[in-house]
Amino acid sequence: MGSVSLKIGDGTARFKRATLCSSAVNILMLLSVVTTNLFALYAFTYSPNDNKIDHILHHSPHKNISLISEQVSLIIREIDSSQKKLAQMEKELLGYETIDLSRPNIAAELKLFLQHHQLPLGKDSRTGITEMVASVGHTCEKSTDLLSQYMTYKISGPCPDDWSLAQKLILRGCEPLPRRRCFAKSIPKVGLSPFPISLWKPISDKIVSWSGLGCKNFNCLNTKKLSRDCSDCFNLVNGTESQKFVKARSKNDFLIDDVLALGYGGIRIGFDIGGGSGTFAARMAEKNVTVITNTLNIDAPFSEFIAARGLFPLFLSLDHRFPFYDNVFDLVHVGSGLDVGGKPEKLDFLMFDLDRIMRPGGLFWLDNFYCANDEKKKALTRLIEKFGYKKLKWVVGEKVDGSGSGKSEVYLSAVLQKPARV
Ligand SMILES: *[C@@H]1O[C@H](CO)[C@@H](O)[C@H](O)[C@H]1NC(C)=O
Ligand SMILES: *[C@@H]1O[C@H](CO)[C@@H](O)[C@H](O)[C@H]1NC(C)=O
Ligand SMILES: *[C@@H]1O[C@H](CO)[C@@H](O)[C@H](O)[C@H]1NC(C)=O
Repeated sequence: MGSVSLKIGDGTARFKRATLCSSAVNILMLLSVVTTNLFALYAFTYSPNDNKIDHILHHSPHKNISLISEQVSLIIREIDSSQKKLAQMEKELLGYETIDLSRPNIAAELKLFLQHHQLPLGKDSRTGITEMVASVGHTCEKSTDLLSQYMTYKISGPCPDDWSLAQKLILRGCEPLPRRRCFAKSIPKVGLSPFPISLWKPISDKIVSWSGLGCKNFNCLNTKKLSRDCSDCFNLVNGTESQKFVKARSKNDFLIDDVLALGYGGIRIGFDIGGGSGTFAARMAEKNVTVITNTLNIDAPFSEFIAARGLFPLFLSLDHRFPFYDNVFDLVHVGSGLDVGGKPEKLDFLMFDLDRIMRPGGLFWLDNFYCANDEKKKALTRLIEKFGYKKLKWVVGEKVDGSGSGKSEVYLSAVLQKPARV
């Protein structure tokens, strides 16, 4: 069934699938090209009947072979001239019209990764799919040079030490990234403490990667304000980090025990956005609540630090749809990380996705969200009202700017409950 016959004059040339192209897709494309170009010259038939072909080839040996071979070479020339057209059609069929795989500087591994793989038994009855497709962010096309750099490596060898290149691609919307067939740089994690001691044990500078970062140790990081939710946040010993969520410094700071009480004991799993060094998840772990901390490694090795504390870091940008099913989390916690900037719709997309993964009756804890101006506060309030959440706590407070300018800043903290929508 997998063969194709071209009837030429009074002879027949037979092309086996494997001799021309490796995939059925290519054969189909090839056929259409050949048909278009040679229709006027040759009759074109598709014959699944192998007996008929055998009959022609084996029982008519007196036909003019040289005529046939002459015409076959004509076809081959036609095929060659159609190569460009084929590549274009294949690209469109792949669905990667925007990633020009025929460009000369595209890494071979990238092409290989993006190829579709037909299921050996055809259509899968459970899922309805006929092929396996690798997923890659469509905006990767805008950074094909970086992407090709990322996909250039020795197969089965060590990967280049390029996590920051990967993160750069992710931040440009090239997410998900293609997979790679090389071994990522491994860093021995010596001196990890057992759980739950690990939650508050200082992490050695030696067990994280500092490549691509300005600071080369945690002391250096602790002198910097990395974000509104992380200044001195790697200092687990004598800074303010250890007081977060258990000791209020302002009326905007809610305590973990108080918020958990609002959930009537039903809070077991949670999701923290922009969770800094993972302290929220650590405090929740002490309450037997499992929290996944969403973080990238912007200016600091957040992911490794959180993992070293025995907590779950999720390395994902906020532009990516969260890899969780609907209605699964009892709690979502977010601070100033919710400030995604851009058009109001950008925040809409994020909020709707957060709402999706939270179960009805679950809690949305907005923690010290910085309202740069009154308009921002109003927009966020309107958005929250759109979701129909029940306001269990709602505090708008002012704090004096930490940088010492004396200016006061407006913060919003709230605990909201997702309604059961019908
Ligand atoms: C076979 O084809 C060639 C080239 O077209 C021609 O010169 C030759 O006479 C043909 N022979 C027969 C037996 O038809
Ligand atoms: C906090 O601890 C670090 C080392 O753990 C030390 O260098 C620093 O002086 C301490 N700071 C205070 C205020 O105790
Ligand atoms: C957490 O779970 C452990 C083991 O089940 C239990 O001993 C401990 O009391 C729990 N802690 C809290 C705060 O519920």
